[in-house]
Amino acid sequence: MKVKDKVYKLLSENTDRYISGEEMADKFGVSRSAVWKAVKTLSDDGFNILAVTNKGYKLEKDSDVLTKQGILKYLSDEAKEFVDIEVFETIDSTNTRLKEMAANGEAEEGKVLVALEQTAGKGRMNRKFYSPSKTGVYLSILLKPDTDSKSALYITTMTAVALCNAIESVVNVECKIKWVNDIYINEKKVVGILSEGSFNMETNKFDYIVVGIGVNVKEPEGGFSEDIKDIAASITTGIEYDNYDLKNRLAAAEINNIVKEYKDFSKHEFMKKYKEKSMLIGRLVYVTSDPDKEELEVIDIDDDAALVVRHKDGSMQHLSSGEVSVKWIKTRQ
Ligand code: BTN
Repeated sequence: MKVKDKVYKLLSENTDRYISGEEMADKFGVSRSAVWKAVKTLSDDGFNILAVTNKGYKLEKDSDVLTKQGILKYLSDEAKEFVDIEVFETIDSTNTRLKEMAANGEAEEGKVLVALEQTAGKGRMNRKFYSPSKTGVYLSILLKPDTDSKSALYITTMTAVALCNAIESVVNVECKIKWVNDIYINEKKVVGILSEGSFNMETNKFDYIVVGIGVNVKEPEGGFSEDIKDIAASITTGIEYDNYDLKNRLAAAEINNIVKEYKDFSKHEFMKKYKEKSMLIGRLVYVTSDPDKEELEVIDIDDDAALVVRHKDGSMQHLSSGEVSVKWIKTRQ
């Protein structure tokens, strides 16, 4: 662990007291100037660190930071029993790391990795997921549902519903779900969900599923990058919001809602809300792989989470998310 990470961990676990540079230097076996440099980098990274002569350093309680203790404060009893949280200031990818841990038997169901930054964030279809520091919360949870390959899709729809509920409980916004698992606010994507699993051909079940969730919490300074600025937003874009402990509150709300829905996972009760929250029902879409981009009218989402569409000739089709992805069309051409 770098000195900066050690300092961050110690300060975030002791937000009720000052810790002197000397104490940290002794504890970590480094010079006081190395501690000072680490504190400076953390402050430059946006952490509110108070420095008082003869007392030392203290992380402001209302700093917009993410810590295990900070998240635990807002967890439901049910979630506290289920999860084991590890927080990283920066990581390659919470999904990649958690999959490795699951494969090596280093993580049990309920293990959660949360990070403030990912250097190799992964999106669906092998795309990269832009995961800059300061502006997002990147979280993965390990689940081991007793489910076959077909039902595994419900893990994703369950997570989309849980995330809508979580975000709406933390900021004053209305979330919509774009089939199959993106969350939108005002027609812009604010959350991406990537579920990855290890399928066991002998048992015909998943050994484990890692569900990864990336939430854009704030607009990056200077806005989103050119390639995504027209389609991406954050959950706080254009609204008044309470910044107090926002990332800890959000991460906890995500975990609380996932654990709540997962408890009765096999009943698929979340599908009702999933349909209610759909932003595609009633709209026109086309299948991205269709060279003709035929306009299809979305009629419904069935109980298998397939998109029920009507072709121009009136025929109906059920599109499965494993096979197609769709884009919506603003108006009929
Ligand atoms: C997508 O929109 O394509 C899915 C994006 C999923 C991003 C999350 S962030 C946490 C977890 N770790 C990753 O590398 N990816 C997922």
